[in-house]
Amino acid sequence: MQPKLIIHGGASSLDDKGGLALVRQSLHQIVMEVYQALNQDLTAVEAVRLGCELLENEPRFNAGTGSVLQSDGQVRMSASLMDGQRQNFSGVINVSRVKNPIHLAHFLQQETDRILSDYGALELARELQIPCYDPLTDFRIQEWLEERKDNFQKKMARLIAEPADTEARKGTIGVVALDREGRIAAGTSTGGKGLERIGRVSDSAMPAGNYATAQAGVSCTGVGEDIINECLAAKIVIRVGDGLSLQQAMTKSITEAQAHSTDLAAIALDQQGNLAWGKTCPVLLAAYHTGQSLGDTLELADDQAWGHVSA
Ligand code: GLY
Repeated sequence: MQPKLIIHGGASSLDDKGGLALVRQSLHQIVMEVYQALNQDLTAVEAVRLGCELLENEPRFNAGTGSVLQSDGQVRMSASLMDGQRQNFSGVINVSRVKNPIHLAHFLQQETDRILSDYGALELARELQIPCYDPLTDFRIQEWLEERKDNFQKKMARLIAEPADTEARKGTIGVVALDREGRIAAGTSTGGKGLERIGRVSDSAMPAGNYATAQAGVSCTGVGEDIINECLAAKIVIRVGDGLSLQQAMTKSITEAQAHSTDLAAIALDQQGNLAWGKTCPVLLAAYHTGQSLGDTLELADDQAWGHVSA
């Protein structure tokens, strides 16, 4: 069947046109590279691993290199991968000193113990002889130092490594893929909210933020606590399993999230190759490839809460 792909680079607002152009360029490049590989028979799981790796390596996004700093000035990252065909979830929570948390989540797919937190995830990285890596960027250090000057009164986790006054704690990356064999996988990775309390756990390595079955897959971005309260990714996917169309499942779930004053967004696809997205925040930085065309959600109106592309 025709592979499908949808990715996101978070949900932070972008006022600056230069910022928008650069984000579009990054997302389009990554979506094209991963789609090409999917078209050449890469599995959905491998496509998710590759897409998340490329997004983690792009310093403008808050995952892997370029992750925000927590309240104590340290980077701690979380990532998960779910193979919809096997309905198998794996992930790492608050791992430090690795380049690509998604690689650990991918390795854990085959393990008995599949979700590891900080110390255990780091031990695994050492066992696998993954080189030690510092994902900190100069911009993120400066950003944290600025926040410290102001006694941490402002909020961090802006998406773009350029000065801006946007208030956002919504940096995450995610990939959902449908391969030639009709298999679905979803992956999500984040540096967290920025300035969070040590030990805070993100939605990105929970089924609330990343979930897939044989019928559908979803990756979320936004404020983790809101996503967890809605159990958003799992809710959308399970609604599709219960008979709603992907579009209906997205609309219903986002309508509920709107009623709870949340700040979140989700990307999704289903087994038929339909794509969908939804948001309660003003912006969703997503891009997709249908096989026929490439598109993105970068310039949706603030109040445009959902959209879809039919198979
Ligand atoms: N959604 C990313 C986080 O809140 O950590």
